[in-house]
Amino acid sequence: KKAEAWSARFSEPVSDLVKRYTASVFFDKRLALFDIEGSLAHAEMLAAQGIISAQDRAEIERGMAHIRAEIEAGNFEWLLDLEDVHLNIEKRLTELVGDAGKRLHTGRSRNDQVATDIRLYMRAAIDDILALLNSLRGALTDLAEHNADTIMPGFTHLQVAQPVTFGHHLLAYVEMFGRDAERMQDTRRRVNRLPLGAAALAGTTFPIDRLRVAKTLGFEDVCHNSLDAVSDRDFAIEFTAAASVLMMHISRMSEELVTWMSPRVGFIDIADRFCTGSSIMPQKKNPDVPELARGKTGRVYGHLMGLLTLMKGQPLAYNKDNQEDKEPLFDTVDTVLDTLRIFTDMASGITVKAENMRAAALQGYATATDLADYLVKKGLPFRDAHEAVAHAVRACDDAKCDLSEMSLERLREFSPLIEQDVFAVLTLEGSVAARDHVGGTAPNQVRAAIARVRAQLAE
Ligand code: ARG
Repeated sequence: KKAEAWSARFSEPVSDLVKRYTASVFFDKRLALFDIEGSLAHAEMLAAQGIISAQDRAEIERGMAHIRAEIEAGNFEWLLDLEDVHLNIEKRLTELVGDAGKRLHTGRSRNDQVATDIRLYMRAAIDDILALLNSLRGALTDLAEHNADTIMPGFTHLQVAQPVTFGHHLLAYVEMFGRDAERMQDTRRRVNRLPLGAAALAGTTFPIDRLRVAKTLGFEDVCHNSLDAVSDRDFAIEFTAAASVLMMHISRMSEELVTWMSPRVGFIDIADRFCTGSSIMPQKKNPDVPELARGKTGRVYGHLMGLLTLMKGQPLAYNKDNQEDKEPLFDTVDTVLDTLRIFTDMASGITVKAENMRAAALQGYATATDLADYLVKKGLPFRDAHEAVAHAVRACDDAKCDLSEMSLERLREFSPLIEQDVFAVLTLEGSVAARDHVGGTAPNQVRAAIARVRAQLAE
């Protein structure tokens, strides 16, 4: 039996290994419903242009409805012999409706067909990612609201730097994920163009109406060069780049969650349902979810590199290399979607140990900068203030006490400008409340930032 659509040209069949090597149906069948959607729009246009009859179009629609039902019910028979999702569906269509099915591929090639399918798939995936990014930002904002006044040490170089509020720290991630959403939206604009009509590479001899198909499928525009339309996958690379940045943010957050949950730090606890135990150590509760997310970031980066490398040596126009774009793309989408879902759930499973955060902020002279700023406000040049406080910190180190625990007389040895009002400045609450400007850590600024994010999310 001659299974291949092109077998008339060949004198011998391909080996089973070649068949398996060149086939993509076992992964690209994921595009099936998009493939049908694209085919229906194409058929509608062919009929409107008088290229096929209205009767043929009706038959194609009937057949496709049947095929869609089979796929959704899970009883569509996918055949390796038919190579990919496109030929499997076309073959079944012809089985169901005869010659009308054979006319569907008029003025079309699998090259523009597959490029269309991927774009439809990616557009839907981006919309899912955008919705989940919103959910995650909302969940982190809720947690930030509960912790607008919770004080923790802020770090630079992983050394205690200045006190911040935990709410402010969480909102830093909300900002990052907001830019990730912007990058996804921007990528979506370039994904949302129609390649169909490019046919194999040069266009077609039939009087097609590409704008009509674009409109039917909800594309913003058509790809304006047929060679470009079938050959480039820059939009997929761009998407994977945006996904890599997103995962990089997830990974940084994961690293912090893991550290915060370490008993040595003890800033948070993560609900049991996101952790697992050890097969040998009965006491263990490990933060597996953030650790895995940190690990999965690597595979998304890998897919970005894979796609860039896939593209770099290809002459125009379509080459079979491009079939290799799908698995990295699918895996990137799956990884990002699952990660966003699980992080959104996990945000509500975080217990904040505010007393431990506060205790940690009281170590390491987190308010030393506040003391320097205090002296500047009393007229000392900043560099001199910096030096005076450095001496005070060394004295505290020797005396094993905090700046706020020194007596006024002792403090005045470092600068006579220091007066009784200094102690308000040296408290953690005074320190955070003083950073009261847009983008600062003061609790009322955190609340203003939360209102800003909530308004954004409501849009
Ligand atoms: N399965 C192919 C892909 O994913 C479809 C296009 C094949 N075109 C071709 N001329 N072999 O890219």
